[in-house]
Amino acid sequence: METVVSGIRSTGNLHLGNYFGMVRNAVKMQQESNCFFFIADYHSLTTHPNPADMHSNIRQILAEYLACGIDPEVATLFIQSDVPEVCELYLILNMNAYKGELERTASFKEKVRRQPDNINAGLLTYPVLMAADIIIHRAHKVPVGKDQEQHLEMTRRFARRFNTMYNVEYFPEPDAYNFGEQLIKIPGLDGTGKMGKSEGNGIFLTDPPAEIRKKVMRAVTDSGPTRRNQKPSPGTANLFALMEILSDPSSVDYFREKHASCEIRYGDMKKQLAEDIISFTTPVRERIESILADPGYLRRVVDSGAEKARESASRTIREVREIIGYRQF
Ligand code: TYM
Repeated sequence: METVVSGIRSTGNLHLGNYFGMVRNAVKMQQESNCFFFIADYHSLTTHPNPADMHSNIRQILAEYLACGIDPEVATLFIQSDVPEVCELYLILNMNAYKGELERTASFKEKVRRQPDNINAGLLTYPVLMAADIIIHRAHKVPVGKDQEQHLEMTRRFARRFNTMYNVEYFPEPDAYNFGEQLIKIPGLDGTGKMGKSEGNGIFLTDPPAEIRKKVMRAVTDSGPTRRNQKPSPGTANLFALMEILSDPSSVDYFREKHASCEIRYGDMKKQLAEDIISFTTPVRERIESILADPGYLRRVVDSGAEKARESASRTIREVREIIGYRQF
């Protein structure tokens, strides 16, 4: 059976990008594969969260994973820092990860631009920890969005390097996965790039309906098409992209035709999209609330997840130590 691993950083609530880029696939994959899904709380240390926020962020993501349909009886759902074995593999992989390649990583370059006062070593080696997360369970597939593609290429490279260095076929080279389709990028509503936690353009699963309406109505569009079959502007194209994912195909067709014939009223399109998002998020939001109200359940989930994940991770560490030459006298 194939092994699947994926994670979400614990730096904010889940937004539609996280859901459609990763969680939806994870939910589908859990029935067929040996799945490990986790909360990347070591990774979140790069932004120096305070302890109270750390704890509540972890709880929140845990409840959100569960509310979206990850079944802890089927998949292994755990907190990264409950499995410290990953730190040992991270250290080992760091010895074969080079400064040049780490500095060239797109996500690192972006952080350097955005937070010049906090360019810490954890940011530089972020892809190495991520590789360790994945290969410690010897995964084959990793459900992620498009923004993680380069990190997955690096994971494959680090796995291959280890195998070559020690002349073994120990780690599989895992693939970024989206059910045989292209990896996806859910756009933000500000007319620019992806929806993200740090971009300030997210629609969160926990947003109440009024908030969702406000965010969607404020979305960037344009002053309307002036020629038949005009290509939508970037902001409008983003609205269509969200509609394609969340709305009924007949609504998408309707507004596409209205756009093509220059009769579109963006206000109507936004109202439709907002209601479609609300129908999707409302039951999830309600489940998140009821799960958060049951700390005993959350505790049982993380305890059993930690136990299963540690069993798998410690087996790998034992074997890796043997391969490297750390052997018993
Ligand atoms: P994170 O927490 O930023 O995002 C979690 C998942 O959501 C996907 N995603 C998106 N997909 C499509 N469109 C978007 N706008 C969008 N925004 C986010 C991400 O691709 C990701 O799949 N480094 C990772 C966490 C991590 C991890 C791992 C993932 C740590 N170790 C090992 C996989 C395997 C991160 O920060 O994801």
